[in-house]
Amino acid sequence: MKLNIAVLPGDGIGPEVTAQAVKALKAIAMEFNHVFTFQNGLVGAIAIDKTDNPLPEETINICKKADAILFGAIGDTKYDIDPNAKIRPEQGLLGIRKKLDLHTNIRPIIAYDDLLTKSSLKIKQIKDTNILIYRELTGGIYFGEKKLSEDGNTASDICQYSRHEIERVAHAAFQAAEARKGKLTLVDKANVLESSRLWRRVVQELEPQYPKVTLDYLFIDNAAMELIINPRQFDVILTENMFGDILSEEASVIVGSIGLLASTSIGEKHAMFEPIHGAYTKSANKGIANPIASILSAAMLLDHFGLYDEAARIREGVDKSLKLHITTPDLNTKYDNISTTKVGDFIEDFIHNPDETNLN
Ligand code: IPM
Repeated sequence: MKLNIAVLPGDGIGPEVTAQAVKALKAIAMEFNHVFTFQNGLVGAIAIDKTDNPLPEETINICKKADAILFGAIGDTKYDIDPNAKIRPEQGLLGIRKKLDLHTNIRPIIAYDDLLTKSSLKIKQIKDTNILIYRELTGGIYFGEKKLSEDGNTASDICQYSRHEIERVAHAAFQAAEARKGKLTLVDKANVLESSRLWRRVVQELEPQYPKVTLDYLFIDNAAMELIINPRQFDVILTENMFGDILSEEASVIVGSIGLLASTSIGEKHAMFEPIHGAYTKSANKGIANPIASILSAAMLLDHFGLYDEAARIREGVDKSLKLHITTPDLNTKYDNISTTKVGDFIEDFIHNPDETNLN
């Protein structure tokens, strides 16, 4: 298969981890006779530094022409601490999501047996957790009207959803639940928010189309607690933009490190693959960033094009690296010198020689 992949490494640890994912994809192309071409684009703080624009037109054009986008990370502490910054790196990521209409974000939360002790939660609580979070990605409070009064003393962000925006992500979540254990949990705040009540109405209207799926509901505050107390109760979680952002980051506690969580963002025409973690500027260029989320995002990219054996090869490599403790310091307790590149090299070697790869 020929795939033209836009690579947007972004900020902080983004370039280091993305380089490992690209390495894995190149190894896959070689082993499975595919032709993958890569074209880099600027986004985020680095794009602001170079062009004064977090999402240059050229980057959007590269993304529009590509079959898929591999995204790194975005953000820089210098913008985080300045509430008056007019231009922000995050506008780059949010702009891509909106302009390419990447409305459905899928975040798998899987507890690896080899990492159960890395979580601060009890093993018996988290073992066998396997959740798919369907997060709506182009609506809600992130994209509603934002206002600051002239005197600077009043501000508002509108949380707005249309039936259409809810339906498309809800259909995708119902279908995912149908193909899994058949349980869908809608997370909202319908006891307080009008937008949440619209979510409930629309999701309930779709329910009869999916007779094999059992639908239940949780308020976000309760869901945040249940996710930690008993994550195994969940199969597919469907939720709006901001609740999905918060819940998925919380869920990283189950898995042991946020450096393991990958995601797919899809719309009708485009698809983007990205770790759920941020740029962690403080950890950049130290060789300590965990590349697994980015490498697993590459596996999700392959899945998207039906390249299931190829994706499986990457995942087997990841599993083996975890089993052998070839992991960065966020997870590792056995060896203290395993760098970002070393993890990437191990997985690259595994892709080429799955039966022979061991720690050198
Ligand atoms: C994520 C991130 C982004 C979000 C930020 C960087 C804008 O936290 O992808 O989860 O809030 O969506």
